[in-house]
Amino acid sequence: MPTVSRRSFLKNASLTAASVAFPAVVKSANPNSKLQVVSVGANGMAFSDIKNIGAHAAVKYVGFCDIDSQRFDKVDEAFPGTQHFTDFREMYAQLGDKFDAVSVGTPDHMHAKAAIMAMRLKKHVYCQKPLAHTVWESRQMRLEAEKAGVVTQMGNQIHSAIEYRLGTRLLKEGAIGKIKEVHSWVAVTGNERNKRLEPLPGAPVPANVNWDLWIGGAPMREYAPCYHPFIWRDWQDFGGGALGDFGCHILDPVFTALGLNAPLTITARNSGINQHIWPTTEEVEYVFPGNQLTAEKTLKVTWSDGGLRPDRKLAKMPDNLELPKSGSLFIGELGNMVLGHVAGPRLYPTEKFTGFKYPKEQGLSHWHVWVDACLSGSKTSDGFHYAGPLSETVQLGNVATRFCTGPIDSRTGDPLEPKILEWDAEKLSFKNFPEANALLTKTYRKGWEI
Ligand SMILES: NC(=O)c1ccc[n+]([C@@H]2O[C@H](COP(=O)([O-])OP(=O)(O)OC[C@H]3O[C@@H](n4cnc5c(N)ncnc54)[C@H](O)[C@@H]3O)[C@@H](O)[C@H]2O)c1
Repeated sequence: MPTVSRRSFLKNASLTAASVAFPAVVKSANPNSKLQVVSVGANGMAFSDIKNIGAHAAVKYVGFCDIDSQRFDKVDEAFPGTQHFTDFREMYAQLGDKFDAVSVGTPDHMHAKAAIMAMRLKKHVYCQKPLAHTVWESRQMRLEAEKAGVVTQMGNQIHSAIEYRLGTRLLKEGAIGKIKEVHSWVAVTGNERNKRLEPLPGAPVPANVNWDLWIGGAPMREYAPCYHPFIWRDWQDFGGGALGDFGCHILDPVFTALGLNAPLTITARNSGINQHIWPTTEEVEYVFPGNQLTAEKTLKVTWSDGGLRPDRKLAKMPDNLELPKSGSLFIGELGNMVLGHVAGPRLYPTEKFTGFKYPKEQGLSHWHVWVDACLSGSKTSDGFHYAGPLSETVQLGNVATRFCTGPIDSRTGDPLEPKILEWDAEKLSFKNFPEANALLTKTYRKGWEI
């Protein structure tokens, strides 16, 4: 009998299953009919993904990797006996053909390395948001997924939740007419977690932490208790500040509903930035090409964070209501929609929408959508073909934040000479400020190049 690789077995099994009934794969007595998954990261959001992906009846976890030996407690309780690893490169090499898919839940600066290595091995990938740490990496994620032909999904799970599905459906169906402008905002600040401008002095590395592997491709620096876990987000070398953290969530319904892809121009202003930390407050203005859903030839989308948000009067909401702390405001020709971050859509002015019948919508498990697609070979709506351009846009905002700062008018807080970056998405470069191109990527520590 010819030998059949696990991969082709799974593919064939799922094709047969798709033509009869999907659960045939799940019910198969062959243990190989399960999707064998590993996780890079075993705690924090990585564990939330592990729990949710692992709740699918057709999933078996076969490896957990974490650089911190004290962070396996939750996975050991939930999936006892699964093998531990410290270095994902060794996990991939050792498990070889014994795994089909990877969930990546590391800090942002390591997403691309872990995910691209996996895709080159033809593994399906679920990768946390933002898809990658830079514009260039976000582009490579899309291209590698295309080349490998694997099933991918970004971990902005609200994409599949009923709130965003209903909001995007209403916008697509024209509930507020063609869209004139969009405002998106988040309440957190870019240096919320550390509330400092410079790193703490170096300290001894805790015995449980492999600092060299945590740093990975970033420039080496001494360990200090202001990075791992969780608070790495504030630092430019590891995270993306408020926009990097929340842009792929909050701009996702804007992209999905309005079919956006790449901006034409980007400009930014902020409360001040150094080479270490993201600013406390920022505003990024994107201009996108218009389409059949927009009122004009172009569409302005304004992002703000750190306490900035649009004037509530724009929404034409009742006087006793406030805009949510985080979310989006869509201004349409026939009315406005407020879509709070993980909240249902609200249409204003109220009197215009009295008696409006909201269609019935369903929420899905974002994780199971990916597992099902891996098993059936279908495409997800939040695959890297979509998540790549969304993440590029988010990271372009961060490039603008680092580049567009200049002398500020002390009375108004506006830049004296606003720099408007003109983007050439095809060429992956700026048309008018070539010196900003260097910020599209980063230098990798030797041995960690992509
Ligand atoms: N989708 C969401 O709602 C959501 C929420 C929180 C975080 N996130 C994203 O999840 C990712 C992780 O964020 P977090 O808050 O859980 O961070 P965290 O620092 O709390 O957890 C990261 C985990 O990965 C481990 N880790 C770090 N580097 C590693 C490496 N090279 N190899 C293996 N393991 C490694 C850490 O030890 C830790 O257990 C980020 O990309 C973040 O943006 C998404």
